[in-house]
Amino acid sequence: MRLAVLLSGRGSNFQAIHEAIQRGELDAEIVCVISNRPDAPGIARARDYGYDAHVIDHKQCATRAAHEEQVLRVLEQAAPDYIVLAGYMRLLSAAFVERWRDRILNIHPSLLPAFPGVDAQAQAIAHGAKVSGCTVHFVDENLDAGPIILQRTVPVLEGDTPETLSARILEQEHVAYVEALKTLA
Ligand code: GRF
Repeated sequence: MRLAVLLSGRGSNFQAIHEAIQRGELDAEIVCVISNRPDAPGIARARDYGYDAHVIDHKQCATRAAHEEQVLRVLEQAAPDYIVLAGYMRLLSAAFVERWRDRILNIHPSLLPAFPGVDAQAQAIAHGAKVSGCTVHFVDENLDAGPIILQRTVPVLEGDTPETLSARILEQEHVAYVEALKTLA
């Protein structure tokens, strides 16, 4: 199973997938890693691991479409079975989603459809949710929507801050993404 990873930041989900492959737990190959941010720690890590790593900086592109076109070009070359969004902070166009329909995955730090968008963990606390978690789902045209593949739950504890809840959820994200990919493999 060939995977392309798109990220914008820290890259801990990318790392969890990388480690699961290394351990022999996930039968997959990461065929390219793309970041829209030159300073993303995740893309530095991808280079260190020797992956085919690309920075396609959206700030250097005149339009959203021009940026996406470059991303698509790299993806066509890499020919992945699945595109894994791992903290990729760009919306994909309808044309992009159509081209790769049912082959783009995302992870989100809430139990979707609750709390889509940014600051999902803060939203959960603000609403007084007692349970939250993460969702791995197929990507469609809408933000943090699309069919759910897998969810893992965590409790929201008295006195939780967005940071403490995020850390508890992130641990489960790393398990969930690998589990979801194993299901697809
Ligand atoms: C994760 O919380 C993920 O759910 C969200 O962005 C964050 C990415 O973290 N989409 P990392 O870059 O994988 O560490």
